[in-house]
Amino acid sequence: MQQHSRKQSLTNRKALHELSKSYELMEVIGRGVEGSVLRAAEIKTGKNVAIKHIKLDQMHPYIIKKLIREVQIQRELSLGPAAEFIPKMVSVVTDDLLQESLEHREMFIVMEYVDGMTLKQFIDKAQSREIELTSSMCTTIVFNLLRAVAAVHKSNVIHRDIKPANILIKKDLNVKLCDFGLARTCPSGSDFRIEVPHTKDARKDLAKSLYESRHERRQKPRQVSPHVVSRIYRAPEVALLHPTYSFPIDVWAVGCIIAELLQCVSEYHELSAEDEYARYLFKAISCDPLSPSGSVEEMENDLLKVILRILGRQGTADVQFLNRKGVMKIVKKIGEENPKIKFADEFPESCKGLAKVLQGCLMFNPHFRYSAEMLLDQPVFSDLRMLSCP
Ligand SMILES: Nc1ncnc2c1ncn2[C@@H]1O[C@H](COP(=O)(O)OP(=O)(O)O)[C@@H](O)[C@H]1O
Ligand SMILES: [Mg+2]
Repeated sequence: MQQHSRKQSLTNRKALHELSKSYELMEVIGRGVEGSVLRAAEIKTGKNVAIKHIKLDQMHPYIIKKLIREVQIQRELSLGPAAEFIPKMVSVVTDDLLQESLEHREMFIVMEYVDGMTLKQFIDKAQSREIELTSSMCTTIVFNLLRAVAAVHKSNVIHRDIKPANILIKKDLNVKLCDFGLARTCPSGSDFRIEVPHTKDARKDLAKSLYESRHERRQKPRQVSPHVVSRIYRAPEVALLHPTYSFPIDVWAVGCIIAELLQCVSEYHELSAEDEYARYLFKAISCDPLSPSGSVEEMENDLLKVILRILGRQGTADVQFLNRKGVMKIVKKIGEENPKIKFADEFPESCKGLAKVLQGCLMFNPHFRYSAEMLLDQPVFSDLRMLSCP
């Protein structure tokens, strides 16, 4: 009887029926907004795979479009320099996306199973001292993360949701980026380039030309969606609803992760083990106008204010990428009270090399922010660079 109803439910669920011919589902390993991720074993080989299961019933066409983009981007990345830094795509098993009469419509994205944990779980363990995180381990993790981000950028893709829960870390500290649900290719005609000016004069020239083109840039239609990246890891140009943003938003998020890792380094005992919030650099509780603040407390802890209070005073060149004079003035005013931060002064000797990388990631002006590729050339990574060269 039970077997009969199982058979019936499988025939009702065409995609699941198809999937169960090749895979045995084992356990849920992650849950997200649109569905869950399962570990499964390939029946033929016994090899593990990860399967992202998304229920498409009553799903908004926007979400379906996003899913198609996610699959396309992950597939394209699997063919280029980023292949070793993302879970390899195996197949997509899906019901007809447009067939509304089906009782169940669902999609299964089958990919390589990454045996390890998310960087979020890893940092949780480091904070509670279940893992002894040394500064040298931190350097290796950041180096691997930057290699992954640089490879994705080289493929002209912006991830747009870099955060510890979307980074998978293995025992050997190698990482893979997952969740390309918000990723997109860099819009053509974007002002952004992967190369960033090295010298002070070159930066001033760039800032001046951005300032002079501010009216023209203001007329451009918005090319990118405003609501991207989780608040704690969101770059100021996203918070400020800048009409274009690009690769630097991922580098900013890497900077926030570096700060989080450094807070949990065992040589740097200052953090309470219980309060997860304590390790975040930018402890914002709202991000006006994307997630508006209601109370006075929220307004005081709005992302932009929190960022500027920590980064401190911004010079004229730092704000000239903004296309309205009023906004430039406000930004300069908020940071005015505090001196510009030097991250190297904030961390113990063993972390100073990484603190310099952090400084490059958290440049307020996205045009000055170092690219992932440039950051890999920092002296702190020189040994790792030698080891990673074939
Ligand atoms: N290839 C994989 N191997 C192992 N675990 C994975 C894999 N892909 C995702 N996960 C786990 O599933 C969780 C959710 O996956 P993710 O792609 O981020 O989906 P969502 O869009 O729901 O956030 C991740 O945080 C991770 O724990
Ligand atoms: Mg996710």
